[in-house]
Amino acid sequence: MVGCALMNRLLDRPSRSLNRVGNRETHGLGYKRVDGDPNVAVLLATMDATAGWEATRRLRAWERDQLRLDGGQRLLDVGCGLGDAALALAEDLGDDGEVVGVDASAEMVTVAQNRASAARCHVRFAVGDVLALDEPDDYFDVARSERTLQWLTDPQAAVLEMVRTLRVSGMISLIDSDWSTFTVDVGDDDLAGRVREAMHTERGRPSNIGRRLPELVRAAGFEVLAATTATQTWKGWNPDQSPAPDGCFSMSSLADDLVDAGQLPPADRERFVSTIHQAARDARFSMALTMFAVVAGARTAMD
Ligand SMILES: C[S@@+](CC[C@H](N)C(=O)[O-])C[C@H]1O[C@@H](n2cnc3c(N)ncnc32)[C@H](O)[C@@H]1O
Repeated sequence: MVGCALMNRLLDRPSRSLNRVGNRETHGLGYKRVDGDPNVAVLLATMDATAGWEATRRLRAWERDQLRLDGGQRLLDVGCGLGDAALALAEDLGDDGEVVGVDASAEMVTVAQNRASAARCHVRFAVGDVLALDEPDDYFDVARSERTLQWLTDPQAAVLEMVRTLRVSGMISLIDSDWSTFTVDVGDDDLAGRVREAMHTERGRPSNIGRRLPELVRAAGFEVLAATTATQTWKGWNPDQSPAPDGCFSMSSLADDLVDAGQLPPADRERFVSTIHQAARDARFSMALTMFAVVAGARTAMD
């Protein structure tokens, strides 16, 4: 559990300082099971950090433009995390609208509920599973999911479950990262190549789901109305102050992934980490990740 003092600090959004709460070695950022994770405070705080990424802000603004929500509409956000994206969209729904956020993590939902107090429309955040939503059929005007499908064993089943809750005219909106686009540049081609190779291979989760979002909505009987991408870049970071670049996993954790993927001999792990840390200290560090977004409508609604 996140203790009271820590939760209060989370609610005040001091995300950068909380990024340092994590254990350097376990700062791996896994969102399959947030509650009970020894670094739960870091997992929550990282959601604030990633909400501040330029790429996230651009994709959320793009989504809002595409959806053009009306007063009185109903929005479902699955894997809603701290609820900030849903609450921002709630502003477009007027007093009569409704927002429901569902997340598997009670820790996330507690923060989202606290942040919901200023919303005008009816807002409900609840613990639940995107694969078996406790929501009615044919109810919502929009179902959205952001950076959650990459943590699911069956993202297609999740999209079908979202579709089940939608009205015939409803729209689906998906935003997700594609970790096969992840690059680390410290002026070392061998190191960059190992990272690229390791990230191309999915291990235990659909980490490269971003580019497959159009396939997911088409397989659910939807047509892509609009699609875009945004690339988050990190140009600087002080490894002596934080184990990880803003909102990202630590380089020790990245090294562990490379070892698991067979791209790095265990004996080279420390050298890999120190090479990146030194490059960051010398301002020779950059990193990039592309996120994808689609907004789609049901084929039958458009015929
Ligand atoms: C990386 S976070 C993204 C949170 C939020 N959508 C955002 O973009 O800030 C992934 C979220 O998915 C949630 N999650 C993972 N598996 C889930 C499931 N089966 N059902 C509902 N939520 C799930 C996690 O608890 C976590 O809050």
